[in-house]
Amino acid sequence: MAKQKTTTKYVCSECGSVTPGWMGRCPTCGKFGTIIEEIEQTLSPSEKKVRQPYAKPVKLSDIGSEKITRIKTGIGELDTVLGGGIVPSSLVLIGGDPGIGKSTLMTQVAGILSNKLKVLYASAEESHGQVKIRCDRLGISSDNLMIMNETCLNNIIDEAENYDVLIVDSIQAVYLEELSGSSGSVGQVRECASKLMRFAKSSKTTVFIVGHVTKEGAIAGPKVLEHIMDTVLYFEGQPEDNYKLLRAVKNRFGSAQEVGVFEMRENGIFGVLDYNGIFVSEDRGTEAGSVVTPSISGNRCMPVEIQTLLSKTVFGMPRRMPLGVDYNRTAFLLAVLEKRAYMPFYSFDVYVTAMGGIKLSEPSADLAIVLSLASSYKNSPIEKTTCAFGEIGLTGEIRPVMQAEKRVVESIRLGFKKIVLPARNYEQVKKYKDKIEIIPVKHVYQAVKTLFDDGKLAQ
Ligand SMILES: Nc1ncnc2c1ncn2[C@@H]1O[C@H](COP(=O)(O)OP(=O)(O)OP(=O)(O)O)[C@@H](O)[C@H]1O
Ligand SMILES: [Mg+2]
Repeated sequence: MAKQKTTTKYVCSECGSVTPGWMGRCPTCGKFGTIIEEIEQTLSPSEKKVRQPYAKPVKLSDIGSEKITRIKTGIGELDTVLGGGIVPSSLVLIGGDPGIGKSTLMTQVAGILSNKLKVLYASAEESHGQVKIRCDRLGISSDNLMIMNETCLNNIIDEAENYDVLIVDSIQAVYLEELSGSSGSVGQVRECASKLMRFAKSSKTTVFIVGHVTKEGAIAGPKVLEHIMDTVLYFEGQPEDNYKLLRAVKNRFGSAQEVGVFEMRENGIFGVLDYNGIFVSEDRGTEAGSVVTPSISGNRCMPVEIQTLLSKTVFGMPRRMPLGVDYNRTAFLLAVLEKRAYMPFYSFDVYVTAMGGIKLSEPSADLAIVLSLASSYKNSPIEKTTCAFGEIGLTGEIRPVMQAEKRVVESIRLGFKKIVLPARNYEQVKKYKDKIEIIPVKHVYQAVKTLFDDGKLAQ
């Protein structure tokens, strides 16, 4: 068979127009930094694509069900996030900030899996010696674990054909010689990932790709390859924190809501089963500006403390500094408090954090954020044993949220004595009123009044 000729072309990722070379700005749509290099395969006239035979539609009932046999990684938290274990032939991306523990986790997975499977760890960033140091630290000494120190992706793929699991650490450090761009460029990262995807689907090998998330986000980061992956997992948390969260942001074989909690120790990264004390502080309740919300991620309910601080604005423009909470959501809730509960924040810089480095994306945290802000504003602490959940609308109404019962049951289990929740969720949870004091609220103003004005309800 004649060898396929490959050429490269430069395409705008926004509008799709082809340019003769790399340019900073697309001449067609005018966007900056969108031109990327792509591989184009030129077929000889004898190899031109032919129309495939007609694929007849098949009745759904005639298609046999395929059972997915998952392979357990042996790390419980990772298995949970993956949806029950590794699916053969799948492509999994582990992304995260530099130094957060991606290689540590992958080395541990490789060590455990190599007891029963053939595992190839392609380390493009570190030498054999460096990988060995890590393996020694983690106590891994398997004979079946092969380490390959290689940056050329085609060599890695050629070698990986006989393995069950391939780990590529990292996608930014490997390259395809067909492309002229340097490794780590958007074109290289995308083409390398596509090649690994084709390899995973055409073989029985499961491929793990490690990717760095750059501070700028999309540029050459794993964001450009999320759509071709089967599963995308991101490590969250500060590199200096001991606790890390592994969050599934996409999963073709399981829930994309799951979160795994890990602790970094000297001898490796370990799943944390009792995560209740991680996202709350012990001495809360003494200072104003803190309240706990029972937050749901996947199948879990985790109590997360919201802390807020107000400080007088020095320069005319008040600053809003949320950490772990969406910026726009914070601005929105401040506006609702100003307009509907008559608390002006325009002369304060506002700091909001979700404790323990967790990112709260659920709207159910709205009520806790608002109560914490109100507590700061009134300089009145909320009791340690009080928690709150509920979504807030622009009119100030408190809207019901999903899985209210689960949140209440978990709050009771963790020893909370009082829970503030949307009035429209009350029916579902009133059976627990002997075990916890339930305060149903309809409006932000009412919620603030109830908590800070000795139980007197607003009109
Ligand atoms: N001897 C040690 N004792 C305790 N922790 C260690 C030790 N050596 C490394 N670590 C921890 O491991 C982390 C680095 O892990 P790892 O190399 O897996 O991260 P990474 O995400 O792969 O980083 P990179 O982006 O550089 O590849 C460090 O942040 C550090 O906390
Ligand atoms: Mg690494």
